Amino acid sequence: MYTVSLFPNVCTLTHQPIHAPPSPVKNNNNNNNNNNNNQIAESPTEAHHLWNGARVVAAHFEANPWLVRGRTVLELGAGAALPSLVAAALGARRVVATDFPDPDLLETIWRNVRGCDLIPGVREGKKEGEEEELSIAVEGLVWGADPTKVLAHLGEGEGDEERERGFDVLVLADLLFRHSEHGNMLRTVKQTLKKARESRALVVFTSYRPWLRHKDLAFFDLAREQGFVVEKVLEKKMDRPLFEEDPGDKEVLKTVTGWELRWPEHVCAAEAGR
Ligand SMILES: C[S@@+](CC[C@H](N)C(=O)[O-])C[C@H]1O[C@@H](n2cnc3c(N)ncnc32)[C@H](O)[C@@H]1O
Repeated sequence: MYTVSLFPNVCTLTHQPIHAPPSPVKNNNNNNNNNNNNQIAESPTEAHHLWNGARVVAAHFEANPWLVRGRTVLELGAGAALPSLVAAALGARRVVATDFPDPDLLETIWRNVRGCDLIPGVREGKKEGEEEELSIAVEGLVWGADPTKVLAHLGEGEGDEERERGFDVLVLADLLFRHSEHGNMLRTVKQTLKKARESRALVVFTSYRPWLRHKDLAFFDLAREQGFVVEKVLEKKMDRPLFEEDPGDKEVLKTVTGWELRWPEHVCAAEAGR
C-alpha cells in the first residue's frame, strides 16, 4: 500500500497481486543477455507495483492540470491507476481506467477510486453501483480488442448530444516493454484517441531492460509508420532504479521519458469537416 505523495493522507493505493493475464509478460528475473523470451506466469509482478511511469504521469498532470481539467481521459494497462485518480481529482470530465479484464484487478482499481476522497462524487459518498454519478469508471480492456464498452462511457449525461468519438487524453504508462503488444496498443490508440488537434496519447516509460531499449523505442517508429505525429515531451531522472537489483546501465534504469502521439493535421481537418 502506498500513500500518494501528491495528495498526502487523502488517497491511498493498493496493488493487488492478481491472476496472470494469459499473455506473455516481462521476465523480471533478468539475465543480462539479449534473450527476449517472454515468460508466462510472472505477471503478478506487473500490476502490484506502482511503476515509475504512473508516478511521472501523475506528477505531470499535477504540474499541468489544464492537460486533463474538463477533458476526457482513458488509461490503458492502468495497474493501480494513479494517473486516472489524479486526472479525476484534477477535474477531468470523464476518466476511464482500464486494465486486463481480471475481476480482482479491476476490483483493486475500484478500491483505489473509493479510497480517493479528492475525486468528485467519491467525496459525496457515491459508490461503485452509482458509477454513472462518478467522473471515473473502471473497465476491462485487452489491448487491440473491441473498445465499444470503453467508448460507451463517453458522452454520458449530455442529453441528446452525439456521443463523442474518442478521448482527449490517453495514458500508456510503463507498457512498452511488451514488445509483441506494440501493434495491439497502437490499434487501441487509433480506435480511442479523438481525431482532434488537441488530443494526445501520453506514453511514458523506462527501459527496464536497458539492452533492449531499441525494442522499446521501436514503438514510436511503428506509431510514425501508422501516421501519428510523435514528440518527446518530458524526461525525468529518478533518485534510484525502480528495481535496484536489475542489471544494466543504472542511468537508463533511473530515466523516465514521456512522448506524445498526435493525429496528423490532415486527419484532424478531415474529421473537423465531417
Ligand atoms: C508494468 S504494468 C504498468 C501499470 C501502470 N500503468 C503503472 O505505470 O504503474 C503493466 C500493466 O498492463 C496490464 N496488461 C498487461 N497486458 C495487457 C493486455 N494485453 N491488455 C491490457 N492490459 C494489459 C497489466 O495487467 C499491468 O497492469
